[in-house]
Amino acid sequence: MDTLVIQGGAILGGELDISGAKNAVLPILVASILADSTVTLTNIPHLRDVTTSIELLATMGAGITVDEKLALEIDPTTVNLFEVPYELVKTMRASILVLGPLLARHGEARVSLPGGCAIGSRPVNIHLDGLRAMGADIKVEKGFIVATANRLKGAHIFMDMVTVTGTENLMMAAALAQGVTILENAAREPEVSDLAHFLNAMGAQIEGIGTSTLRITGVERLNGVAYRVIPDRIEAGTYLAAAALTQGDVTLRQVDPGHLEAVLLKFEEAGALIDTGHDWIRLDMRNRLLKPVNIVTMPYPAFPTDMQAQFLVMNTLAKGVSHVKETIFENRFMHVPELVRMGANITIDGNVAMTQGVSKLIGTSVMATDLRASASLILAGLVAEGETVINRVYHIDRGYERVEEKFHRMGANIQRLAT
Ligand code: EPU
Repeated sequence: MDTLVIQGGAILGGELDISGAKNAVLPILVASILADSTVTLTNIPHLRDVTTSIELLATMGAGITVDEKLALEIDPTTVNLFEVPYELVKTMRASILVLGPLLARHGEARVSLPGGCAIGSRPVNIHLDGLRAMGADIKVEKGFIVATANRLKGAHIFMDMVTVTGTENLMMAAALAQGVTILENAAREPEVSDLAHFLNAMGAQIEGIGTSTLRITGVERLNGVAYRVIPDRIEAGTYLAAAALTQGDVTLRQVDPGHLEAVLLKFEEAGALIDTGHDWIRLDMRNRLLKPVNIVTMPYPAFPTDMQAQFLVMNTLAKGVSHVKETIFENRFMHVPELVRMGANITIDGNVAMTQGVSKLIGTSVMATDLRASASLILAGLVAEGETVINRVYHIDRGYERVEEKFHRMGANIQRLAT
């Protein structure tokens, strides 16, 4: 298992290109099985979750090729296996996203039920209830979701909670259903909208994109299309946090500042100077001191849970007290004990982390537990005194493309050791 070794203290800066968004690519990849001809995708990040999704599509029978410009071509016409084994769902919960497309296009699906995961129990009841409302017959047998349907029918669905993959699953199913589906309390994350734009490019009829009510008029067929995936707002936010923590000055390119409004406001509150253009963001923290910021994680457009751990690290070194409240996942503070081992002063009370800023963090050996927690430990290592060794880095490879190379380009002293 690889480790990352970081010598803290470098000031990070320069220019960096942001990759395609993991959480947009995953649903778009599986949505390609709805089409009846080849789909060509660009801006696909090289990530472990993307490789897993491609493996999943290939297992189901899809033809996959990568052309000379690194565009990914998916031929869905040969899909003939409608099953996703536990081994795949276990490594990537987003595998549940094949349920809607398989049911809509092929009328059957057998997908392993995802168990709990490091950040919480993460049930899928809203996905299943929505598909049932559209006429699917769904049973849970021996840990598998076994679903069948003739042709799904449009339905008026009110989702109890805002769920990103739940909204995506139902939107994909509704695209080929008979009649109109209305999804109320839909997630508005940019990745959900990107999927909707992709489906519309294939011939779907989705209205209300970017709002909490989606109106989907089912069509008979969807055609293959060429599509470029949006930039990764969380990757961008993570590199901005690195510059903020190290009093650096960074300009990110190939990014959409409109997707990061709540996050950029919090960077300004933390003392950073922010400047943006159509597809770039500059954060300048030179000669400026970090200020503590209070955060409540909420569905988009509010502050994202996927940036919570990174801001918590910033708070550990900001003078004063701050409160970070996690409302999306019940167990998303696993980075806290590791940060405390590095000298942070954080106490957890229920879903609130209270931080009293300290003057420094000290490098040590720490353990990554999930994707964003791993990112926060890298950030802590960049600013800590001495050496930080991060174990179980495979978590970070799920969601950050060439992570050590990108940090290195910003000036970090970081290397990967294969063990
Ligand atoms: N929920 C239910 N029932 C459901 C579905 C969700 O109770 O049927 C609950 C969840 O347990 C959670 C809340 O609703 O408490 C919101 O979860 P959501 O369904 O929105 O999360 P998700 O779709 O499983 C996606 C991202 C996550 C991101 C969350 C929140 C993908 C592949 N994953 O997960 O990304 O944190 O939305 O924005 O899109 C990450 O990239 O590190 C990551 C975890």
